[in-house]
Amino acid sequence: MTETIVKPFNLDFDLITGLSESKDTTKRPLSKMKGMYADELAFEAAVQNEDPLVYEFYELDLPQTPGDLLFGTSILYPGKVGDEYYMTKGHFHTILETGEVYYCLSGKGAMLMENPEGDWDIQYFSPGKAVYVPPRYAHRNINLGNEPLVTFFAFRADAGHDYGTIETKGYRKLVVERDGKPEVIDNPNWKE
Ligand SMILES: [Fe+2]
Repeated sequence: MTETIVKPFNLDFDLITGLSESKDTTKRPLSKMKGMYADELAFEAAVQNEDPLVYEFYELDLPQTPGDLLFGTSILYPGKVGDEYYMTKGHFHTILETGEVYYCLSGKGAMLMENPEGDWDIQYFSPGKAVYVPPRYAHRNINLGNEPLVTFFAFRADAGHDYGTIETKGYRKLVVERDGKPEVIDNPNWKE
């Protein structure tokens, strides 16, 4: 049996670039968000045109065991599909009773949250502000500014991710630009 030896990790994890000796990197172009934006024509046009990089994150390769914490840096680029701001897919945690904290390093944006019972909330990011995602709430970053929204996050390491529920049902709310300002509207495509 192979024993996993947990060593003290290199803690000079760079919050801005995510660079460290041991890291996982994920880059998501817009095409990975198929079906998530309300304006499908605008989505297809943007993907055909250049399929821009929308989201990336850096995470240390830590063991996913109870008692550990996973943490990393998330970068969400600015832009819109139709009048809807660039966003992450959003997810629940497999262990639904998981809280998570995000700390905004730079940029301007929002965290849109909803739970299976139908409650939802939006909290806004600006540099130096922390946003707490309570247990049971799906969470999605939205970039409301003109520069990358960079956040640092931490949550229990064994929580797991459930992207499928949001991919299937969508989010109850969308954030769109109206008269130059963000506005929260009902998602016309949300499935009960
Ligand atoms: Fe999360």
